[in-house]
Amino acid sequence: MSRCPVDGRWDAHGGEDSRRRSRVTSRRSLIAGYGSRVATIEERITFEARTPNDQFLPATRDWRPIMPTTLLFELSDGIARVTINRPDKLNALNATVIAELGDVVTRIETDAAVRGVILTGAGSKAFVAGADISELSEQGPIDGKARSILGQMVFRRLERCGKPVIAAVNGFALGGGCELAMACHIRIAAENARFGQPEVKLGIGPGYGGTARLPRLVGRGRALELLLTGAMIDAAEAYRIGLVNRVVPGDALLEESEAMLKTILENGPLAIKACLEAVDAGLDTSLDQGLLLEANHFGLLSSTEDMREGTRAFTEKRKPVFRGL
Ligand code: COA
Repeated sequence: MSRCPVDGRWDAHGGEDSRRRSRVTSRRSLIAGYGSRVATIEERITFEARTPNDQFLPATRDWRPIMPTTLLFELSDGIARVTINRPDKLNALNATVIAELGDVVTRIETDAAVRGVILTGAGSKAFVAGADISELSEQGPIDGKARSILGQMVFRRLERCGKPVIAAVNGFALGGGCELAMACHIRIAAENARFGQPEVKLGIGPGYGGTARLPRLVGRGRALELLLTGAMIDAAEAYRIGLVNRVVPGDALLEESEAMLKTILENGPLAIKACLEAVDAGLDTSLDQGLLLEANHFGLLSSTEDMREGTRAFTEKRKPVFRGL
């Protein structure tokens, strides 16, 4: 049995085949929406998993079609390309973007066909120019705190999704935009990228993790300089202080980001997941606890078929075929 991807009902006729391809014939269906929005669809929907190893992936198909209004979501070759799509507002994060990003993160976490993620902003001017200031201007202390906690939760889930996430920073990454980029595992910046935490200029502080992640990435002194001055730095300076991994020409940004992600995805997926988890948890523990976690992962990974395959492929002088098992 498999779940119908339209209405989530169990379909006795799905069978093994539906793990690879499930076609659902036209039916009037309600798709739970975002906030108060409810979309009705009446169309044939085709789902296909096209990753090279999809026959080995668990049949996770209880997510629903993503129909966001402020994001673009595209999945091919195991790579989810997520684009924040409000270019007229420099991709500012309003409540809808955060809610829809939460839905996308759920898809990333639970859809085995997603093996890695590239996150970027629409247009050539901005990655994300921060939280939506028109919404901030209306908030009081209770909803202000709730907005901060909700955004922090979505970013944290992205950071802990267990799959590599690369931010392709294509312009302004300010406030919530810089914070979103910092929640990604790797940041590649276009030459025109600009980074900063300008919240203090608005009489508010960072709300989506800036005070927590920035010092971890660039050190306390440099973080405080950026947080207290609200100054913007260019891509070269961001690279110099360790805020970004690489700076590339703007027209090569997506290509370079994909190339790096594809290099990562050639490696054992369980080993990648273990590295992400060990670094995430290890940074917040003592050295001894971090080392113990690493040793536990090392032992656990030694029980996997991937580890046998990787070591055997080395001795046989061929490329390994990892199956995530
Ligand atoms: N929230 C809401 N709208 C935003 C925004 C934000 N964070 N950042 C930009 N916009 C909107 C502008 O209001 C403008 O909308 P309009 O055309 O309807 O007036 C549009 O995006 C273009 O921005 P504009 O300011 O005209 O572009 P610019 O090239 O002159 O300046 C910035 C670019 C990034 C320097 C400037 O937009 C800016 O300082 N943005 C706010 C950055 C910030 O403080 N972020 C942290 C928020 S907590």
